Amino acid sequence: MTSMSRRARLLAALRANLACRGRLGLGRVVGTPAELERLAAALLPRPPRESLESIRRRMGQCERCPLAADRRHIVFGQGPEPAAIMLIGEAPGAEEDRQGLPFVGPAGKLLNRMLAAVGLRREEVYITNIVKCRPPGNRDPRPEEAAACRPFLEAQIRAVAPRVICTLGRPAAQALLGTKAPISTLRGRWHRVLGVPLLPTFHPAFLLRSPERKREAYQDLKAVARALEGKERLD
Ligand code: URA
Repeated sequence: MTSMSRRARLLAALRANLACRGRLGLGRVVGTPAELERLAAALLPRPPRESLESIRRRMGQCERCPLAADRRHIVFGQGPEPAAIMLIGEAPGAEEDRQGLPFVGPAGKLLNRMLAAVGLRREEVYITNIVKCRPPGNRDPRPEEAAACRPFLEAQIRAVAPRVICTLGRPAAQALLGTKAPISTLRGRWHRVLGVPLLPTFHPAFLLRSPERKREAYQDLKAVARALEGKERLD
């Protein structure tokens, strides 16, 4: 059984247990999704932590999904290990595919400015994507492509051991949280993945097209910076 299915089964069991306690009038010990995630993370055995270098070596010249066919480079990720903040976008674009590095195109330049505006330096943040190869024509990654990359992404999260994850854009938030909820309802709220607090925000490429939404994204990044100072409620 995979660690994901164990997690899903444990969460379902915890939820059923809570519903049963409610019916029997025994009161609720825990209840919010964040509390359940934390409990599940504490109860599940942790897979051993693997270094980023070892994960990248294990990925090799990956051909686990069709995106391998058109890529120039695998864009694995960039940043320190460990890092307090991990940013997760959707997929490399043309410039990222050319250079083999995440967020180096126009969206990346805006991201750098936004990080600086809330007092964060790009060099202190670990940045990756839910898929490591560029989808043709920059289309959204398909669920099966994200699923093929997911074990590597989860291993990266364990290696980087971030205190906070911030996802950039709808596909990254939906894939990581296993939901089809729109980004407008996901962003600006704290969630949890693998026991790590996660805040979705807008993708910088979207903000280049819709600059009037930048204010909300700045609020989200400020919340991330506040979380690192212990000044933010994470659920
Ligand atoms: N958009 C992303 O989601 N990721 C990148 O690395 C670049 C652009």
